[in-house]
Amino acid sequence: MVDGIDGDKREKAGITRRRFTLGVIIASVAGAFGSLFALLKVLSPEKKGGGYVTTIQPGDKLVYAKGGNMGAPLRASSLNVGDAVLAFPAGKSSNPANLVQVIKLQETEFKPPMHLNLTDRGFVAYSAICTHLGCTVSWVKNQQAPAASYTECFCHNSIFDPSRGAKVMGGPAPIPLAQIGVKVADDGTLVFTSDFTGPIGPQVG
Ligand code: FES
Repeated sequence: MVDGIDGDKREKAGITRRRFTLGVIIASVAGAFGSLFALLKVLSPEKKGGGYVTTIQPGDKLVYAKGGNMGAPLRASSLNVGDAVLAFPAGKSSNPANLVQVIKLQETEFKPPMHLNLTDRGFVAYSAICTHLGCTVSWVKNQQAPAASYTECFCHNSIFDPSRGAKVMGGPAPIPLAQIGVKVADDGTLVFTSDFTGPIGPQVG
């Protein structure tokens, strides 16, 4: 009888130890996930309502987002018809959602649903974040016919028409890239003139 009671105590003590160990493991895993989530949140743009939150204000100057001129003001004279560059608003490159693609085209090529009032002298800008799953878009320049150049996201080959408000011409992107106003300032640099016309970032899932 004594052995039976001792056996019960030993068994209960064993269960308690196993539960405690399991609890420690669960707490550790949860802590690790919490840290990982916090890290990803720091590395990712802020999200709101399925899209990314941007911090561009009218009057912000555009600066090169990469390359040897990274951080330098973007001058209108540096782009010819058929050229495009990635740009950030000055001092706000820490938010990836602020990335835009600035394109120089023939103004006569612009067609609806392009917001003509958000363009200046052939310059037009769109969000550079693909509306499918959020990759950065690229510029495909047509050397023979610069006006026929276009924007493509190479992640899943979505194609956007820069002359028609970044309308989706192919691929899985569900909506166009949002347009944002730009103009050439008196000193020849490019500045933003508005907020985006639509949501930024992935619009699926
Ligand atoms: S993320 Fe751009 S096409 Fe899929």
